[in-house]
Amino acid sequence: MEFPKIQISPLLVGFWFLCSVALVHGWGNDGHLTVCRLAQPRLSEAAANAVKDLLPAYAEDDLGSLCSWADRVKFRRPWSSPLHYIDTPDDLCTYQYTRDCKDADGIKDRCVVGAINNYTTQLLTYGQESASQYNLTEALLFLSHFMGDIHQPLHVGFTSDRGGNTIDVHWYTRKSVLHHVWDNNIIDTAEERYDDSDVTELIDAIQTNITLKGNYRVKTWEGCTTGNPPCPDVYATESIKAACNFAYKGVTEESVLEDPYFLTRVPIVYLRLAQGGVRLAATLNSIFG
Ligand code: ADE
Ligand code: ZN
Ligand code: ZN
Repeated sequence: MEFPKIQISPLLVGFWFLCSVALVHGWGNDGHLTVCRLAQPRLSEAAANAVKDLLPAYAEDDLGSLCSWADRVKFRRPWSSPLHYIDTPDDLCTYQYTRDCKDADGIKDRCVVGAINNYTTQLLTYGQESASQYNLTEALLFLSHFMGDIHQPLHVGFTSDRGGNTIDVHWYTRKSVLHHVWDNNIIDTAEERYDDSDVTELIDAIQTNITLKGNYRVKTWEGCTTGNPPCPDVYATESIKAACNFAYKGVTEESVLEDPYFLTRVPIVYLRLAQGGVRLAATLNSIFG
């Protein structure tokens, strides 16, 4: 299955742009950079070589530098917009592929889980004759980005609030929306407080957690109970559970979110970034053999 490139009028694109700028984000740039930078040192030799081969020369073998590429092309490729998230029924706190993986028009497979499956299938043709029908560079960049998105709890959120995008809150003294708190604000505040405002220090701290932290079940994250990684249904279920237990919990319109919220949620953000990085590496290692 390949996603169609639908032609739409410039006027509609402009309207769509205005609506979506406020509504659709992944993790912020630092979140995606973290996932890709955590993954790359974990690659097998074969996977590292394939990634090097597929990345454009200007990326200088740094997957992180292009991990937010999928966000930048949303405007030129509106068909890709619904592939960054999944909307689930309000308050159920469950995810089911056949029920939930569709876009706003009800077209099935058009959600972040469907996209991870699709780009994995494309990348499995690497080194074969059938590879030529795909742009495997784009497949790698989409897969790396969506592996980050699916671990952001509110990218598997409720339908009516668009994963927290319509919930206005205050992050300390500033206005924000709940979705943006999870894409950016928690990460930015953690960097300011603990990492000298330097994302590479945040990445190093999470890398240390992955190697040393007893409650990080890295071997379990890397596998799937059925078959090889990725198992995006598992990651999506974890996200909606975390959305209910941590992101939405105790939050209402105009809530003021400050230390009590930040201090109890920042471990979840670190955990999800760590899982995203470990699973991106496990997926690329599985794909490229
Ligand atoms: N737009 C609609 N639902 C969304 C979600 N859960 N995450 C990001 N953007 C969205
Ligand atoms: Zn995204
Ligand atoms: Zn987002």
